[in-house]
Amino acid sequence: MDKFVVQGGAKLYGRVKIQAAKNAVLPLLAASVLADDLVTIRDLPHITDAENMLHILSELGCGIVRGDGYVTIDGRNAVSHEIPSTLTRELRSSVFMLGSVLTRFRRAKISYPGGCDIGLRPIDLHLSGLKRLGVTIIEENGYVICSAEKLRGADILLDFPSVGATENIMLAAVKAEGKTVIRNAAKEPEIVDLQNFLSRMGADVSGAGGDTVEITGVKRLHGVDYTPMKDRIEAGTFLIAAASCGGEIETEGVSEENIAALLHKLRENGCKITAKGDKIRLRSSGDLKAASLVETLPFPGFPTDMQAQYAALSATARGTAVIVENLFETRYKYAGELKKMGADVTVRGRTAVIRGVEKLHGAEVSACDLRGGAALVIAGLQADGLTRISRIEHIDRGYESIERDLGVLGAHVRRETGT
Ligand code: EPZ
Repeated sequence: MDKFVVQGGAKLYGRVKIQAAKNAVLPLLAASVLADDLVTIRDLPHITDAENMLHILSELGCGIVRGDGYVTIDGRNAVSHEIPSTLTRELRSSVFMLGSVLTRFRRAKISYPGGCDIGLRPIDLHLSGLKRLGVTIIEENGYVICSAEKLRGADILLDFPSVGATENIMLAAVKAEGKTVIRNAAKEPEIVDLQNFLSRMGADVSGAGGDTVEITGVKRLHGVDYTPMKDRIEAGTFLIAAASCGGEIETEGVSEENIAALLHKLRENGCKITAKGDKIRLRSSGDLKAASLVETLPFPGFPTDMQAQYAALSATARGTAVIVENLFETRYKYAGELKKMGADVTVRGRTAVIRGVEKLHGAEVSACDLRGGAALVIAGLQADGLTRISRIEHIDRGYESIERDLGVLGAHVRRETGT
């Protein structure tokens, strides 16, 4: 198992390249089985989640050809409608393969993707949406078994603007008969990227980014050569790191509106932030004032995927920060690890109260999930001494090489392999 050894104390300076967005490429890979021709996705990040999704596609029978910085998928050879349970456990977001496999085969089988490190992760909204499109669903022996004589467009209202459910329904509706309207749809930028991708394949999709997405089924979808959007969560992670360590960095590829809620809080902390096009420049003394309250909300609210990283920043901000995690039940597992580094964090249910301390100190800590692991790296960067972080396979799920990218900015993060 790999470990990170983080030497704290460096301020961060420079420009950092942002990878293609994990939460955009996963639905794009799922959608690639819908094409009657080759699909090329460029800049695919070397992250475990993308590898697992490619593994699922090859298990379904798709041809996968990798090139320098791109992957080409030939979905024409897909023969199986069963998503392998071993991989569903590895990658719970494979649940939105249901929509694309149903469109392809009119049937789909997936093992229940259960909870994960951050919460129960129910899929009731996915399944109720698919049922509205005419899908019969049997849940037995831990499997979800779907079949549909014909997929028919429908008017669907989501109880909650679920990202995955919105994407799953879009994938099931693109070749359905008639029109589908998804109301109270998720508005995340990754939904817009999926709409752009599907439209380039010949789909009739509109409204993504707003709360109503409309899809009119088409007969066929052709191949596409596509470059996904950049990862706003990765950019936000680096900006939070620079804010808490001090320094001046620039991220390129992510526009201000895609992480406006985070930038608003970082300005409240005392950072100087300017944004022009897809460049965001942040300057920080490292001596920050705690933001009084942060509530995670669906886009465009403060992203739950930045909550842990922001808590690490708040650990040494002057004053007391209150964070409320409204989306997931157990997204504070990192708190105990931060406390080993001297943070003053009290968690009650969905609320964390963080009283800023003068300094954190290095410690032996363990990553519990993807973004919680990133939070421990940020804490280590600002701590006195060395921090050893184990279980960093969690971090590798979503960051291509967090140690390389932070290293470009002057951070000292070393990967110890196989220790
Ligand atoms: C996506 O997960 C992201 N993953 C998550 O990123 C992100 O945290 C989340 O959206 C919210 O932005 C990918 O895109 C691959 P949801 P998803 O459905 O689709 C409830 C990361 O770190 N819900 O929008 O699973 C659910 O319990 C990951 O990159 C239902 O109740 O999120 C939660 O409270 C973590 N029933 C809320 O909706 C359902 O059927 C948000 O979930 C589905 C969801």
